[in-house]
Amino acid sequence: MMEAVKSQAARVTLEHVSKRFGKTVAVDDVSLQIEPGSLVTLLGPSGCGKTTILRMVAGLETTTNGRVFIGDAEVTHLPPNARDVTMMFQSYALFPHLSVFENVAYGLRVLRRPEAELRKAAEDVLALVGMVGMGERSPNALSGGQQQRVALARSLVMQPKVLLFDEPLSNLDAKLRKRMREEIRLLQQRLGITAIYVTHDQAEALAISDKIVVIEKGRIVQIGSPLELYRSPGNRFVAEFIGEANFLPARLEGMEDGHARVVIGPQRLTVDSPPLQAGAVTVLARPEAIRIRTQGDGLFGTIQKVSYLGSSADYTVETELGPVLITDYEMQGGVLPAGTAVRLEFLPHGVYPLPVT
Ligand SMILES: Nc1ncnc2c1ncn2[C@@H]1O[C@H](COP(=O)(O)OP(=O)(O)OP(=O)(O)O)[C@@H](O)[C@H]1O
Ligand SMILES: [Mg+2]
Repeated sequence: MMEAVKSQAARVTLEHVSKRFGKTVAVDDVSLQIEPGSLVTLLGPSGCGKTTILRMVAGLETTTNGRVFIGDAEVTHLPPNARDVTMMFQSYALFPHLSVFENVAYGLRVLRRPEAELRKAAEDVLALVGMVGMGERSPNALSGGQQQRVALARSLVMQPKVLLFDEPLSNLDAKLRKRMREEIRLLQQRLGITAIYVTHDQAEALAISDKIVVIEKGRIVQIGSPLELYRSPGNRFVAEFIGEANFLPARLEGMEDGHARVVIGPQRLTVDSPPLQAGAVTVLARPEAIRIRTQGDGLFGTIQKVSYLGSSADYTVETELGPVLITDYEMQGGVLPAGTAVRLEFLPHGVYPLPVT
């Protein structure tokens, strides 16, 4: 069954690609290689150029400059139907008057494939997305998640070399979104298909990506694995965009072997760091890598606000360095009330000095 939908994975390459709409520079000199069979997420705020990049890969938009390759072949000037690429949109727009089966078979009917081949291919992909026996239903009689699966099947049936996703889950509620992103990731890995996934949901990006490309105003700011971006963001924009972050004034005493000796309040610690000059710096401190205690000799503070979230408690603590957000997953001292005097200890793996930008 898998063979029917197995595709040859292709590398996707963008070389100095730009797109201008009149005076708007939507995409600005983007170069990117997406390895065969990997899932790469384009992550960035609204209007940063994510959809435009996808559309240029799909051939739905021309490039102003630069070149696009799928595998070894340059496709910059090829029409969409000559690119072996399919795109799944935010509104998955199933044909309401066609059955689930006919929605999936649609692309193959357009290509006038023989009935038996078409039937087998459509049934195979429906099985793949967990929709056996639902072929005769109308799309209107499906849940949001089921409609999403049909849309996915409709893309897969064309055996594309590359699958493009433009915020495919944004119409679903949080719980379903989480389940569907796992399903998409599993399928993509099982089929070994190359995928480019657009989202502005950082949790989604962290959960499903081999690599994340962070984009700001049409330019690539940083490319890395989820862990690399979380642990060593290149600048404040990336740090703020991925995960929760405190930015605190600190002093960098010196560097040795790629580590920095930093002083945050009364605490001295050695942390991973890009090469930086000694002196005043800003450090990123992740909220879950700060211990909160009622005793000890860490940074002194007073709890301003506390929210108990079940598996964790979130604190805002007022300190001489400003407010510090802490997420406590241990809660060994129970949940401390507002007004409690506390000491904060920074854990080295969650502290990262940032270059000044
Ligand atoms: N057809 C168009 N004509 C003119 N400007 C456009 C066109 N398409 C996009 N733009 C502009 O290009 C920029 C990038 O748009 P794009 O849709 O790629 O952003 P995005 O990152 O997908 O945003 P969102 O997260 O809101 O979907 C925006 O400033 C947008 O207004
Ligand atoms: Mg978009």
